[in-house]
Amino acid sequence: MTPDRSAPVGVFDSGIGGLSVLQHIRQILPHESLLYVADAGYTPYGDKPASLILERSIAVTELLLSQGIKALVVACNTATASAIKHLRERYPELIIIGMEPGLKPATQISKTGKVGVLATRSTLQSEKYLQLSTQLSAETGIQFIPQACVGLVDQIEKLDPSSAIHIRQLLDEYIPPLLETNVDTLVLGCTHYPFVADFITEITEKHKGNLPAIQLIDTGRAVALHLKGLLMKHALASEMKTAPPLIAYSSGSVKRLQDACRHYLNLTDDQFTIASTTGLV
Ligand code: DGL
Repeated sequence: MTPDRSAPVGVFDSGIGGLSVLQHIRQILPHESLLYVADAGYTPYGDKPASLILERSIAVTELLLSQGIKALVVACNTATASAIKHLRERYPELIIIGMEPGLKPATQISKTGKVGVLATRSTLQSEKYLQLSTQLSAETGIQFIPQACVGLVDQIEKLDPSSAIHIRQLLDEYIPPLLETNVDTLVLGCTHYPFVADFITEITEKHKGNLPAIQLIDTGRAVALHLKGLLMKHALASEMKTAPPLIAYSSGSVKRLQDACRHYLNLTDDQFTIASTTGLV
């Protein structure tokens, strides 16, 4: 069945990270009806085999398709790297948008020619990432220095005040060595990381002294703009006059997703509903 303009847009991630993309979608496309899936029962994807990430991406996409989505945003760099090619082959009629670490925008702003890339191990080891970084380095001469932030997603997912200390410890371990290589730009190559951007900036400021501030690159807004462009092109943009409530599902803790919607999206309880995917995927 061909979707119509009032059909929802589906967005998914391994957990709450995709909400950092969804917040841009809500700003840029305020009248779209949105369905979000946090595959929190399987988070983090970044340490899982590519075959499992693909399996979960298909299962979650099936759930979203069963709810009649007109477009899919894979709001997860790790799932994009492992699964987007297969998803596009499997669902050729569906508009599918993925995330990739913002290496291209980084080439336009780096002055030192050195760019740090923070992402999951799975993203950084993927063929997709290796191809992109090799090609862009050859074209621009920019050197990309990858840093897998193992453990960080787990801590961001916890959303409790005691995780802040562990987040800081992990970032204190991962970021200073990158700064020593003279990077002036850090790519946030995982959709969870914009939620700890303030911690990252704090650490970069402490270590750089009076040198120019390190620029952080997050591609969430660019993805939302790309989605808008595709919906317009396919005459699928919503014509509703009000913002419908967000519908969110979790395959893990429903309470945690609820807290994240309140905390990161500033939603009041009448602006969203949360359900468990139990029995669905
Ligand atoms: N938010 C994800 C990403 O953009 C997934 C992180 C994970 O589950 O390891 O890569």
